[in-house]
Amino acid sequence: MLKNFWYACHRGAAISSSPVALELLGRRFVLFRGPDGRVTALDDRCPHRGAALSRGTVEAGALVCPYHGWRFDGGGRCLAIPAHGDDAKIPERAHLQPYDVEERHGLVWLFIGDLPPAERPPIPPLPEYGDPAWRAIDGEFLWHAHYTRVVENGLDFAHAPFVHRNSFGNPARPRVDDYKVELGEWSGSAYAELVAPPPGGLWSLFLPKDRPPVKTRVGFFMPNLTRLDLELAGGKMKMVIFSTNIPIDEHRTLTRWTMLRSFFKGAWADANSRTRTHQIFLEDQPIVESQRPHAAPDPADEISVKSDAMPLAFRKLHRQCHERGWTLPPASPELRLFSITPPR
Ligand code: FES
Ligand code: CO
Repeated sequence: MLKNFWYACHRGAAISSSPVALELLGRRFVLFRGPDGRVTALDDRCPHRGAALSRGTVEAGALVCPYHGWRFDGGGRCLAIPAHGDDAKIPERAHLQPYDVEERHGLVWLFIGDLPPAERPPIPPLPEYGDPAWRAIDGEFLWHAHYTRVVENGLDFAHAPFVHRNSFGNPARPRVDDYKVELGEWSGSAYAELVAPPPGGLWSLFLPKDRPPVKTRVGFFMPNLTRLDLELAGGKMKMVIFSTNIPIDEHRTLTRWTMLRSFFKGAWADANSRTRTHQIFLEDQPIVESQRPHAAPDPADEISVKSDAMPLAFRKLHRQCHERGWTLPPASPELRLFSITPPR
């Protein structure tokens, strides 16, 4: 797992003035929203006796530990030790160091690392979010898999005719045309035209039986974000699926996805879109969870062919980040997740 990136870890709408526990990168955090609307992120451990602050409350904008009532403000400063009254002397070590937080695209982003702000890889753009030309829905999916395998699956053109033969994959056309990987400093993407199978269900009412190819772009942003762009019906219908594949720990990944569509913009189509998206994850799930080793290994340790260029581009950039020294050290024992779910 990597440090020095902004991790999109939760929905902004899910963070209110009640503390929320967050599991990320094998660690425990607490999030809460202060009266000024800003989200605070702290280690989920009271410096006094180690109680989980996420079990506490927020009162007058301060996080109150459930054990002895010590209070912490949005900057992590300890404001009060009730057992010692109003004039309690606050020890320097009672203060907590908050994490840097941003809210963008409906998501809360935590910076995990030690780079100064000017040197940090940026939060990637998502210009369609909040644009009235697009309808946004969101959801989540839990994998018992390492996030590198989940990300690579999202970049893999060649699996669709096999894994997704009952949805968008076309078993009659497994061949992947040559494609070009376009690399950015912290990202990569590739474009291909996919021949979809004849439409089914609701879609058969709107789409001709003989469909033009689906213009498809798959992409990633380091270290754990994927973006899928689809243009259907010759470009009249566009769809974007932006996913943050949150590494809970070495064995679990929570994908929080945002789907944007430029068509069927009424709420009536939301349930159908959500079901279809979920179905695609369900198709991928048993395969991705079966992959060994658990984390995507060094490129030399698996056989890669030309059609793997896109997942390989991610894997190489990932390795380069480790080579820069951006390997995240293990969490301190006090913050480590207790119940590491064993791989299935
Ligand atoms: Fe938090 Fe004592 S453990 S106030
Ligand atoms: Co898939």
